[in-house]
Amino acid sequence: MSHDKALAGIRIVIDAGPTYEDIDPVRFLGNRSSGKMGFAIAEAAAQAGAEVTLVAGPVALATPAGVARRVDVRSALQMRDAVLRAVEDADIFIATAAVADWRVAEYSSRKIKKGAAGAPVLELVENPDILAEVAARDPRPFVVGFAAETDHVAEHAREKLDRKKLDMLAANRVDEHTGIGADDNALELIWPGGSETLPRASKSELAEALVARIARHFRARGGRA
Ligand code: C5P
Repeated sequence: MSHDKALAGIRIVIDAGPTYEDIDPVRFLGNRSSGKMGFAIAEAAAQAGAEVTLVAGPVALATPAGVARRVDVRSALQMRDAVLRAVEDADIFIATAAVADWRVAEYSSRKIKKGAAGAPVLELVENPDILAEVAARDPRPFVVGFAAETDHVAEHAREKLDRKKLDMLAANRVDEHTGIGADDNALELIWPGGSETLPRASKSELAEALVARIARHFRARGGRA
């Protein structure tokens, strides 16, 4: 029966994967995010009874069992539109996507030619911070962010939690073995009143542990703000 599950009837929006910022019809700026962590969380949340909307950047992953809705996007601006629409009536938002920090100021609808003028200089503009934007809404869902850090993980994560006004943040150390693109991971979970380490495990085990913590904190806060 679904009503005895931790997230029965709870609407969750999860963004996942990289974004690709097109330069011209054949070139783009991208990053190494595989989307695996976000997809594992979507699967765990669906198993816990949630109604999951998964907003996915360009990834090579099948939709996990039980996910109610999947919206495929390519760029940060498309991801922002899809997320803002989806969180309208959501209880929880989990931002796992590696949103590109910048896009090109001007997309060229023609392939940029190699030529006498030499290498082009790309002018970049900053993309909107989707997570901070959702957290700034009123009313807003329970907001969970991710942070990939190479050093001073706990310190940088705490700063990010405060600055973006998040309910919870899952931080991981990225090096050649863990984090982006890897199959296993360890998470430092922090929230305004405390923290907890989720030790290294497969992304699906970590996703289950994380979803259980999110469910507990969401209930403790009494639901949507
Ligand atoms: O500031 P930083 O990029 O390290 O923050 C990471 C968190 O913010 C992740 O949860 C990511 O999904 C989210 N984010 C976002 N939009 C951006 C940049 C990051 O939603 N433009």
